[in-house]
Amino acid sequence: MEKKLSIAIDGPAAAGKSTVAKVVAEKLSYIYIDTGAMYRALTYKALVNNFNLEDENSLLDTLLATKLELFPSPNGQLVFLDNQEVTEEIRSSTVTNSVSIVAKHQKVREEMVRMQQSFAVNGGVVMDGRDIGTHVLPNAEVKVFLLASVEERAVRRHAENLQKGYPSDLEQLKEEIARRDKIDSEREFAPLRKADDAIEIDTTSLTIPEVVEKIMDLVHERVG
Ligand code: CDP
Ligand code: CDP
Repeated sequence: MEKKLSIAIDGPAAAGKSTVAKVVAEKLSYIYIDTGAMYRALTYKALVNNFNLEDENSLLDTLLATKLELFPSPNGQLVFLDNQEVTEEIRSSTVTNSVSIVAKHQKVREEMVRMQQSFAVNGGVVMDGRDIGTHVLPNAEVKVFLLASVEERAVRRHAENLQKGYPSDLEQLKEEIARRDKIDSEREFAPLRKADDAIEIDTTSLTIPEVVEKIMDLVHERVG
């Protein structure tokens, strides 16, 4: 039987991580875990309850008292918070603009990492986030760091918003993405960083199938 690998995909906002991770997981019949959705779900709950996003201990207590579940589906990963589906709600711009504040707390991250590692114990997983190659799955057989210029990433998100019929402002998106990248890269604990052994792929001028192909080549190299 072919060995089941762990595949870590990291990179800044809107670099294409979840899109390509989903396709790679499908091709290999692996599970796909979007770790950003976990930070988003906690942020959503904290916002709904008017919690102070700087209060690390109360955020940790909230996380420990929360039933957070991820389920695969043909349309991507479904997210449930205390038995209620929040897949759409956690993508709102309010959550997007607050999530990096929640994600900078070490105690919150340590608990998230523990949960994420428990999903990956048997391998056969494609996980995307910011610290997968560096902290969550340091022994992943394939590590990829996806990049694209801020302009290109904002254009992609803008097109996605328009396609979904959401209001969207390109300049504002550019600022929001740059701001989130800055907080994610500058936080003290487990910042957004390429693992030393990760392969960097600049996707600025690549299509989704081209990125998927590059990752599949790395997978095939690994399984020989
Ligand atoms: O899809 P997008 O790139 O907009 O973001 P995401 O993957 O849903 O992640 C949302 C936020 O969660 C990021 O901006 C980080 O602040 C945080 N995050 C993190 O700190 N560590 C992870 N492994 C995943 C996400
Ligand atoms: O998960 P992450 O935030 O890194 O990005 P994403 O949500 O997978 O991708 C953001 C948008 O860029 C999606 O609408 C993708 O279809 C698009 N994309 C693209 O146009 N070209 C690529 N090479 C990768 C993603």
